Amino acid sequence: MNAAHLFTCAAVILSASAKSSAGPNPEPSLSGSFAFDFAIGFGTGVVSGDSEELVRRHASTVTSENSLKPAPLRPDRDTWNWKNADAWVAWAKSLGKEPIGHTLVWCYMQPKWLVDLMEKKGISRADALAWQDNHIRTLVGRYRGEIKTWDVVNEALADKAGGSDLRDDPWSNLCGEDYVIQAFQSARAADPSARLLYNDYNLEQPDKRARLFRMLDHLKAAGLNPDGVGIQGHWTLGSPSIGDIEAAIVEIYAAGYPVHITELDVSVYDWEPGANLQRRDFAPASDLAYEKLPDEIQQRLADRYRDIFRLFLKHSDKIERVTFWNVDDGLSWLNNWPLRGRPNHPLLFDRQQQPKPAFQAVISELSKEAAK
Ligand code: GLA
Repeated sequence: MNAAHLFTCAAVILSASAKSSAGPNPEPSLSGSFAFDFAIGFGTGVVSGDSEELVRRHASTVTSENSLKPAPLRPDRDTWNWKNADAWVAWAKSLGKEPIGHTLVWCYMQPKWLVDLMEKKGISRADALAWQDNHIRTLVGRYRGEIKTWDVVNEALADKAGGSDLRDDPWSNLCGEDYVIQAFQSARAADPSARLLYNDYNLEQPDKRARLFRMLDHLKAAGLNPDGVGIQGHWTLGSPSIGDIEAAIVEIYAAGYPVHITELDVSVYDWEPGANLQRRDFAPASDLAYEKLPDEIQQRLADRYRDIFRLFLKHSDKIERVTFWNVDDGLSWLNNWPLRGRPNHPLLFDRQQQPKPAFQAVISELSKEAAK
């Protein structure tokens, strides 16, 4: 019998039998339930109403989703647009949630003027790196002491083996790996006590992990070892396998990096091999789409979340945090990707902010853990 889980279980039962002060939802709090295992978060902008109540009730952290990305912050080379960023940090604090910063450098959601300059070689390598250094020092410095964890570099690694370890993007094309090394250096200098993470997807694939470990070794050699690795967790009903997820968690932790599950969601549409992910528009007549989730798929989603959380609980010593990528189904980016306008149902709460069978499945895994 695990005493910590027994205690948690009692708290879960108590909170399940009490009405939420926020409204009619009697469901137990996720962050309260998993308090002895890992932190729980949502990646979201400022939300209100029932979605905000879900944040209040179920999370101990919130990740900034798009609010701190370079594109909205940097309308031009020397200007900062702090309005939304400051509002987001103030909102997180007003709810008593730890704000997590995302992301200092990424190939997407960069200001268009910067990408144009980099692609047309209208900016030198040295000037691009100087801009990045100033960007990171200013942003991390502004929220020093308030934002204690940052996704420093997002998605730097190539998807396929055989070429460069880095993906083909404006930053790597102009600066090579130096932009990754410098990003950690600038963030470390701006806030020596912040927890600095590297964040990516497909780390469940052994060859992408090999590229990850090589990059981490270079950071370590430069004295800039990250404080953890973010496994994004944009998964589907069928993939990746639980075995592949487990290998990623175990190997990344064994290499010395606490694991953060940073962007968890489970698409109810499998990404068939060869699917054209560049095609954006949803064609209701020919594309598979569930306006309302059929019972059978709802059950598959619950089973999948149960298996995922069973694994997370097994490795809770290695996992610091599990963050869902948005709060409820209506807010998910997957309603517009890869097909714009196709309804998806990837989270624990539906469009009416009600817990789905997947929520119950996750909570009941915890009760089983307590009974061991
Ligand atoms: C990536 C990024 C996130 C977000 C998602 C899609 O995973 O890290 O910030 O943009 O894509 O919403």
